[in-house]
Amino acid sequence: YRSLKVALLGAGSVGSQVARLLLEHGDELAARAGAGIELVGIGVRDLDAPRDVPLPRELLTTDLARLAASADVVVELLGGIEPARTLVLDALNAGADVVTANKALVAAHGPELFDAAERVGGQLAFEAAVGGAIPIIRPLEASLAGDRITRVMGIVNGTTNYILDLMHREGATMESALAEATRLGYAEADPTADVEGFDAASKATILASLAFHTVVPVDQVHREGITGITDAVVQQAERDGRVVKLLAICERISGPDGDRVSARVHPALIPGDHPLAAVHEAKNAIFVTAEAAGDLMFYGAGAGGPETASAVLGDLISIARRHVIGGPGVAVSSHANLPIASFDEVLTRY
Ligand code: NDP
Ligand code: HSE
Repeated sequence: YRSLKVALLGAGSVGSQVARLLLEHGDELAARAGAGIELVGIGVRDLDAPRDVPLPRELLTTDLARLAASADVVVELLGGIEPARTLVLDALNAGADVVTANKALVAAHGPELFDAAERVGGQLAFEAAVGGAIPIIRPLEASLAGDRITRVMGIVNGTTNYILDLMHREGATMESALAEATRLGYAEADPTADVEGFDAASKATILASLAFHTVVPVDQVHREGITGITDAVVQQAERDGRVVKLLAICERISGPDGDRVSARVHPALIPGDHPLAAVHEAKNAIFVTAEAAGDLMFYGAGAGGPETASAVLGDLISIARRHVIGGPGVAVSSHANLPIASFDEVLTRY
């Protein structure tokens, strides 16, 4: 195996779970990737902060720039714009690949970051940035690349869905439900991003940009959060057989002057028998409509440390596999001039 040096920036809800899985299942992940995956360090702000997961003290550092500079792959799980942006740009410019779950960063600085990656033939992977554990980035980027997407719509913020769900089902207050979502590791470091719809707007930017092959600036996304949703609004919705959900809606609107993209985030009253009404707790559900494929639905955990770590590790393994192709240490069997053989033999002839 060639060994890839991985620098993990951040050991919060998501980062600590990525570290745990790398440390617990490193050998299995390496075998799957075809490359060793060596966690060379974990960058944090406070070496003594209590952690969800016990982490080897010798791996922790507060010198994130130095740690990132020593790695083949940088996994950015800090959140926010700075220092994440500078660290990611520097890593890409130095030839490292980057995995990030940071939707705020990708939405605000995507073009700059992707240009940097392209210039050096590097990769910036961000499956975890939208929908937590749900594979949605790769389906939009790759599987549906030959189709014409007309709409991407759904619930993309786990915290607000958790809050609204508890308000409906348990009569919880917004404050108590947000406190619980924070305790469970769903909320952003500053939960204003969740409840005011900034997080969902960043995700709408990413989804719309991928779906419609254009750059949708985050400030062009109409945004309303859930702070205006009172108990009275929830109770009235229930009397009407509806539930309140925060939706992100990205549409291609065709007109005589060509196509336009509309992207918006706002609460909506969903009929009680609609599939979106059955999306509980911090689950997300994203509906994609494409001209040839028709309607597709993506559903699963939209937030949470272990759940999001799954998507981060998927990106990491894809990158590790890319490093292996054509890299040193991988022997390729020659199959030239094999005589015709039975099916059993064909499968065992390597
Ligand atoms: P947390 O706030 O729980 O953790 C952030 C981590 O980064 C902490 O370990 C913190 O260090 C470290 N950190 C932050 N700023 C700095 C800094 N300036 N210098 C050094 N270290 C720093 O965040 P999450 O794990 O919840 O989220 C990480 C990223 O993943 C965010 O971009 C978020 O939007 C995204 N995401 C989160 C999901 C979730 O369910 N939580 C789901 C999908 C994406 P210390 O511990 O010392 O304070
Ligand atoms: N705070 C985000 C949410 C994390 O609740 O959806 C997942 O992106």
